Amino acid sequence: MILKKHIGIDLGTDTTQIYLNKNGVVVNEPSVIAFNNRTNRIVAYGDHAKTMRSRTPAHVTVSRPIIHGVIADFDMAREMTQHFLKDGHIPWSWSTRMIVSVPTNLTEVERKSVEDLLKESGANEVHLVEQPLVAALGSQLDIHQPTAYLVVDIGAGTTDMAIISMNGIVVSKRLEVAGDFLNSEIIRSVRDELKLSIGEPTAEDIKIAVGAAIPQSERLEVQIRGRDVVSGLPREIVVKDTQVRLWLGRPLRLIHEGLKDLIEASPPELVGDVHKNGVYMCGGGSMLRGVDQMLQKETGVEVKLVDDPLTCVVRGTGVVVENFDKYSHLLDNFSNLKLG
Ligand SMILES: Nc1ncnc2c1ncn2[C@@H]1O[C@H](COP(=O)(O)OP(=O)(O)OP(=O)(O)O)[C@@H](O)[C@H]1O
Ligand SMILES: [Mg+2]
Repeated sequence: MILKKHIGIDLGTDTTQIYLNKNGVVVNEPSVIAFNNRTNRIVAYGDHAKTMRSRTPAHVTVSRPIIHGVIADFDMAREMTQHFLKDGHIPWSWSTRMIVSVPTNLTEVERKSVEDLLKESGANEVHLVEQPLVAALGSQLDIHQPTAYLVVDIGAGTTDMAIISMNGIVVSKRLEVAGDFLNSEIIRSVRDELKLSIGEPTAEDIKIAVGAAIPQSERLEVQIRGRDVVSGLPREIVVKDTQVRLWLGRPLRLIHEGLKDLIEASPPELVGDVHKNGVYMCGGGSMLRGVDQMLQKETGVEVKLVDDPLTCVVRGTGVVVENFDKYSHLLDNFSNLKLG
């Protein structure tokens, strides 16, 4: 038992991660829950629930309570968060402070919903912090300097981009085009062009095995199975990186156009700083082959993939947890110029 514990949380569309003070990241699980509609009971959480996706009988629903980084199903999100907090072997304490990262440009109602969720999950004190700020801290950027950094976080549900200077977000943009959108483009293209119906997990396998934003020096191929849309029977096909690159062209264009819009809307001095410092890219979607080189070519600014891009945001919340007084001015502060 401890008197007060301090927790950092990244409630992601794809993954929930929890940081406990003096312990590091103690939970890293898919934000997925499986619910039995007959018994009204939750049957699985996290990794276990994810393996059930697209494979459940009619009375079991596998769902993701967070969509585009926003709570879509409050009750399921609360059940899931409470479970992960228990699962992380986080000790009981008299009081709990939680610092949770949220995407930029949330409405007040959406922010209140996150706060309520964590209060109902055992927090006495909840602070919200915008994701690009903690992504920058997790990337070891010295954000209090009078220079600007551009951070791009390509997650599953959102691509959050922001220019940060002197401890604040100067301008930000959030797109609902990220890893999930790439998967749905793969599902649609495989159905339209190859006449094969596939589920989300197979689309994800294709993206990770052969997905690329720019031409690759070696040829990549992956064998997948699905249902023939004409005969309705199972069929196996080989998908090549060159095909997937074309399929991903449209969503990737939306991301680089969004980044260009953000740079164009920024004050000239800051654009000069960004040119000097480069663009820092994190989030699971930034691990797509060549996405850094594509953004670099399109913007003319050096793009750097941060170390361990999947945990960058939660590690950033950890920096705030461990140095609360130093970073408290970053919390619960949402006034900045937003580009939609
Ligand atoms: N090697 C890879 N290549 C391409 N995409 C990848 C790779 N590894 C993970 N991803 C994608 O990264 C995404 C998950 O990233 P991340 O954990 O940062 O998202 P999240 O924080 O849960 O979502 P969000 O921030 O949008 O709420 C998924 O869409 C996944 O398909
Ligand atoms: Mg994220």
